[in-house]
Amino acid sequence: MKHFLKLLDVSAEEITELLNLADQLKYEKKHGIEHKLLKGKTLGMIFQKSSTRTRVSFETGIYQLGGIGLFLSSNDLQIGRGEPVKDTARVLSRYLDGIMIRTFAQKEVEDLAEYGSVPVINGLTDFAHPCQVMADLMTIREYKGGFSGLKMCYIGDGNNMANSLIVGGLKVGMKVAVATPQAYKPDDEVLKFAKAHGDMFKLTEDIMEAAEGADVVFTDVWASMGMEKEVEERRKQFSGYQVNKELLSVCSKDVMVQHCLPAHRGEEITEEVFEAHSGEIFDEAENRLHAQKAIMVKLMGDK
Ligand code: CP
Ligand code: NVA
Repeated sequence: MKHFLKLLDVSAEEITELLNLADQLKYEKKHGIEHKLLKGKTLGMIFQKSSTRTRVSFETGIYQLGGIGLFLSSNDLQIGRGEPVKDTARVLSRYLDGIMIRTFAQKEVEDLAEYGSVPVINGLTDFAHPCQVMADLMTIREYKGGFSGLKMCYIGDGNNMANSLIVGGLKVGMKVAVATPQAYKPDDEVLKFAKAHGDMFKLTEDIMEAAEGADVVFTDVWASMGMEKEVEERRKQFSGYQVNKELLSVCSKDVMVQHCLPAHRGEEITEEVFEAHSGEIFDEAENRLHAQKAIMVKLMGDK
């Protein structure tokens, strides 16, 4: 594994290996065991969109591993003034040991990886949020002990989170059911991958059908970053796509609820459900740190 750009590129074995390493790094952190596996390494972190979790967990994570993180806002970089990605990639590769990027187009992340010579990590694009889904899988495994026989459901927009959850969930062997309005379906490439899994995958407009017997319920904001102008229209289109008590009543008795955050209470999730499941939601947020440390070690560590 040279880069971490999208889960479609990562094998089931590599996902398991990363999750095992993430568990080990979490244990070591909790027990005060030093794990400076990236001593002296530098991670550049390019942000073209806002972030709380991704920024802080990557910066803290690389520091805990003995390296340093450089926060690079696109407002300050020449990339924000039109310097081509392929030039930025070749320059930054001369200074850094790895690059994490959060941006709009998946192609920008793929180009950075193609033209640069250091590992590139996708910290969210419009297409995918693979680091988040590694943390999500880590949290599911912590709570449920494994993936076999479990059903995941996703309610809401067929966005970056939906795309990555579908691929990640199916790769680890979970059943995946997704409820989105017809006009907001997940990406075609992801649906093609999912449909090859037969009965393991279901796409519907009916939230109750998707949630039936689910062991883990996911949702995400109705309007992602960059869709600010569509907020009002999306509120109308998604008004029935909410994780609430009624939806959970058709799920498995000990259903988990996950949300990548930030959450919009009263829209995709009720305050009541969010607070009742806040323990597992904030464990999920914490696991960003451990899962990403594993990704950085795997990509940037001495081979
Ligand atoms: N979940 C997530 O990626 O959060 P941030 O946007 O705060 O990084
Ligand atoms: N779908 C959301 C995820 C935020 C972490 C967005 O892209 O804004």
